[in-house]
Amino acid sequence: MIVSNFSLRSDYSLGGAMEMKNIDFGFVADIYDDYVNVDFDIPFYKSLCKRYRGKSLELMCGTGRVSLPLIEEGISLTCVDYSQEMLDVFIKKTNGKKAALFCQDVCELDIGEKFEFIFIPFNSFSEITDSGKRKQAVKRIIEHLADNGDFLITLYNPQYRIKSADGNMKCLGKFDISNDQTLIVTYYNSFDSASSRIFGTQFYEIYDSHNKLVDKRFLNIAFSLVSMDEIKQLCDEFGLAIKETYGDYTFGEFNDKSQFMNFLLTRRMPK
Ligand SMILES: C[S@@+](CC[C@H](N)C(=O)[O-])C[C@H]1O[C@@H](n2cnc3c(N)ncnc32)[C@H](O)[C@@H]1O
Repeated sequence: MIVSNFSLRSDYSLGGAMEMKNIDFGFVADIYDDYVNVDFDIPFYKSLCKRYRGKSLELMCGTGRVSLPLIEEGISLTCVDYSQEMLDVFIKKTNGKKAALFCQDVCELDIGEKFEFIFIPFNSFSEITDSGKRKQAVKRIIEHLADNGDFLITLYNPQYRIKSADGNMKCLGKFDISNDQTLIVTYYNSFDSASSRIFGTQFYEIYDSHNKLVDKRFLNIAFSLVSMDEIKQLCDEFGLAIKETYGDYTFGEFNDKSQFMNFLLTRRMPK
């Protein structure tokens, strides 16, 4: 199906997908860009994509927060997400720019093409909360990696992230949105040591210009704190090697205190 200039292959059974989704961003797709309005990581992805001559594949692209600035820079990008609602917002924002969008679960990734650079931005790999499914996702992803290709996984440093998962209610922010409305996002999250997961809820309140509540929603969230050991195990299992590790989005060195843990993986050279 061709939508605008975008080729959108929607070969995912959405009925099944709804049940399987861990965090269903479909509930907040229309306001996602209002409260996730950061761009601190975009120069990092731009610079990495430009290292490769071939096409890049972005997984878990959402509404195109990262994708669209890259496409505007002339990077040839294919994007995947399993939320049709998030992709619908992406499509509305394209203004005729070209990109291939696929509505698929990365655990079942099947694009039928190889890419020199594959990346999962914004810690989203950890949204696959089952370690067996993470393994399945990497297996599928590696099938799409060119022989000389690299795969970037961006994660939180578990030691850093665990500290803020204290169960306390916090305010993410107050955002001016369309129609003179104001969006207020609050949340809490807690760490469950048995499963090494963070669970929580985000609350969204929308007020009109008279400060009267017009909409209220919540979204349950759950994500895993993926360890460096797990990444090393995945590398061993799938013939990958850690090429570079960064503790931030400015190519800074990783250490125990780093907020992030970003791995650039490459195929291991045959001995
Ligand atoms: C936090 S959002 C990030 C979106 C975008 N990358 C960004 O940086 O703003 C995570 C996205 O991953 C998608 N996602 C989560 N699990 C997925 C999976 N197994 N397969 C495909 N997409 C997935 C969600 O639908 C959501 O759009």
